Amino acid sequence: MATVLIKNGRIVTAVDDYKADILIEDGRVHTIGMDIAVGADVEVHDANGLLVMPGGVDVHTHLDWEFGVARTADTFGTGTTAAAFGGTTTVVDFCNQTRGESPLSGLEEWHKRAASAAVDVSAHMIMLDINPQSMADMETLIKREGVTSFKLFMAYPGVLMLDDGDLFRAMRVAGGNGAMTCVHAENGGVIRVLVEEAVAAGRTAPKYHSLTRPTSMEGEATHRAIRLAELAEAPLYIVHLSAAEALAAVTEARDRDIMVHAETCPHYLFLTDEEYERPEFESAKFVMTPPLRTHTHQTALWRGLRTADLQVISTDHCPFCFNEQPLGMKFSKQQGKDDFSKIPNGAPGLETRLPLIYDGGVRNHGMSINRFVELVSTAPAKLFGLFPKKGTIAVGSDADIVLFDPEETWTIRATEHHSRIDYSMFEGRSVTGRVSKVFSRGRMIVDGREWLGKEGMGQFVKRGESGKI
Ligand code: URP
Ligand code: ZN
Ligand code: ZN
Repeated sequence: MATVLIKNGRIVTAVDDYKADILIEDGRVHTIGMDIAVGADVEVHDANGLLVMPGGVDVHTHLDWEFGVARTADTFGTGTTAAAFGGTTTVVDFCNQTRGESPLSGLEEWHKRAASAAVDVSAHMIMLDINPQSMADMETLIKREGVTSFKLFMAYPGVLMLDDGDLFRAMRVAGGNGAMTCVHAENGGVIRVLVEEAVAAGRTAPKYHSLTRPTSMEGEATHRAIRLAELAEAPLYIVHLSAAEALAAVTEARDRDIMVHAETCPHYLFLTDEEYERPEFESAKFVMTPPLRTHTHQTALWRGLRTADLQVISTDHCPFCFNEQPLGMKFSKQQGKDDFSKIPNGAPGLETRLPLIYDGGVRNHGMSINRFVELVSTAPAKLFGLFPKKGTIAVGSDADIVLFDPEETWTIRATEHHSRIDYSMFEGRSVTGRVSKVFSRGRMIVDGREWLGKEGMGQFVKRGESGKI
């Protein structure tokens, strides 16, 4: 493996900001120093004018995943290639237990799909059956397989939802063994009633997806999840938090020193429910769960990032094409043309997270450059047992490094993406800040618009204890 020198860059981590060179050997950071001298056999990259930051860590993706009536459009190969072009070098994806089967079989099946990953990957396990055997299997997943986080759903009744007793039992096993529970917090039962009533009354347009998922039911479920985790004495992570009521519940719990963490996603920070007023079926592109909220909620989320009640920004990349594609993908948003409840829930985002947050956060929202790195890389790495291998630039860490041009202005276009998805929620948006080069364990995989990586070169990362920051 080549020895690599990154020269003259401005190194930014969650806590540092200084100019230095980085010498990489055997895929890891070997030396950080001033004016490191090397021989002619070393691959040298001049990072003058660029930010040199740890590769992004995205802990919420759904690649090549069967979800109800559809399957997500990206394979691990295409999804992680898209991630790399967006400056993300580690992806923690969701695999799931099949009802009636062991979660260990779910992981085995996920490993087969994940073999095409181009960047490093890890897995959270979605638990669907909570029983004595599956709880024993949770311990095996944690201790033997390096899967130290579990996803539990309070939404999607009949598909993924668990009742409170099962939530509590799973939380207790996870918490007692150094793992964290990630919860999709919405009151699935109540939402089902609202959805059934809307469809029966002929309210079938995509905007009713949003109108049948009130923020109060996200707040209620978040509060309930916190109380269950508190009783279970288990660390909790609320995924894709979108509503002020949910954030208030998190803030209240954190103020009481409860181990609750939460993420939000770029779409909740930059888009609002006005997107559901788009003509024709266009608004189906924004059907994800929870739905986009009003400006008031968006303001609350920015406040939560500032006060650190929100610790992570992930994508919830769950890509379903708008139209059917010629790539053998028969699933698309069109499945719900006549009934919003049949639109596959989910949206893409893996390729645009870093530029969007840099542009919208650092340039336009008073976010420090260190906080930016913390939100997209360091905090998720710490919370999910990947730090300091991932999430920072330090001697001994994996040389997952992004050279980021803070001045380049460009326009987001789905046609230029590497994901298999045929639209972007941010189509036509001009952003300043762009990924210039990406290194995965010391090997350059992105050079401008050029792909130098390879599907299958990503490694599975076994994770350590989760839930601590
Ligand atoms: O709409 C979404 N978010 N789809 C992915 C599944 C989930 O709830 O995270
Ligand atoms: Zn969810
Ligand atoms: Zn998700």
